[in-house]
Amino acid sequence: MLRVEKASVAYGHVMALKEVSLSVNDREIVTLIGANGAGKTTLLNAITGVVPLKAGGIWLDECRLSGLSSHKTVILGLGYVPEGRQIFGAMSVKDNLTLGSYSQRGRNLLSALGYVGWFMRHPSIQSNLEMVFKLFPVLRERLKQQAGSLSGGEQQMLAIGRALMSSPKILLLDEPSLGLAPNLVKEILKLLLRLRDEGLTILLVEQDATAALKVADRGYVMERGRITIEGTARELLGDDRVRQAYLGKAVA
Ligand SMILES: Nc1ncnc2c1ncn2[C@@H]1O[C@H](COP(=O)(O)OP(=O)(O)OP(=O)(O)O)[C@@H](O)[C@H]1O
Ligand SMILES: [Mg+2]
Repeated sequence: MLRVEKASVAYGHVMALKEVSLSVNDREIVTLIGANGAGKTTLLNAITGVVPLKAGGIWLDECRLSGLSSHKTVILGLGYVPEGRQIFGAMSVKDNLTLGSYSQRGRNLLSALGYVGWFMRHPSIQSNLEMVFKLFPVLRERLKQQAGSLSGGEQQMLAIGRALMSSPKILLLDEPSLGLAPNLVKEILKLLLRLRDEGLTILLVEQDATAALKVADRGYVMERGRITIEGTARELLGDDRVRQAYLGKAVA
């Protein structure tokens, strides 16, 4: 579904991504792990059109994403839960959620352009809200509350809910566990399994590699802007290099 081929990104003279190739198949959970500064957020920003590619290409199904604005990548089916959540703190929970569905306003334009597939997978804003409330009942209770006054866990639920409002084909999450208590991390990861079972495809960036590999089908390890190891989650959990560097277990 998502294909990144030899993608390179530079910030000035610094190469943050060097010929990165990665793929996520339909209904897969793929995790990207790596140390601080490895380039994980940069890769997600490149996929979502926040930063431009210097070389290489990115495709979602048959559509080339590289070169498109982030607005267009949302319309084409990317849902992004960015690092640090980035919800609108001064706005209500409801307004944050409805903002997530803004791509629905592109309906007429899309129909003119013949994006029939988009209509097939786009239910109404109201039914998307109901779907989000089913996943996160607490958001219904807090609908009128200012988003900035939610707890950290509730804000993360809101960030995921907002991304789901655009009916994405693939959900990209950047460190959803950051700052959450361990039991909440487990809950969020369990939720990802549930979303996958309902047909969503997921690319998950996580510092907590053990937790991520427990729910993922496959994984990639990124070091200094390059993919250095890839494999099934089981292979990575058993890989000595991964265990030593990312799983906090010395190899016996
Ligand atoms: N806007 C920017 N301008 C210049 N350099 C940047 C910019 N954004 C990121 N970098 C640099 O690019 C490299 C990769 O950063 P990135 O944020 O992608 O890492 P990361 O793997 O997401 O790290 P973390 O786990 O800490 O979130 C780092 O060296 C960072 O300093
Ligand atoms: Mg990051």
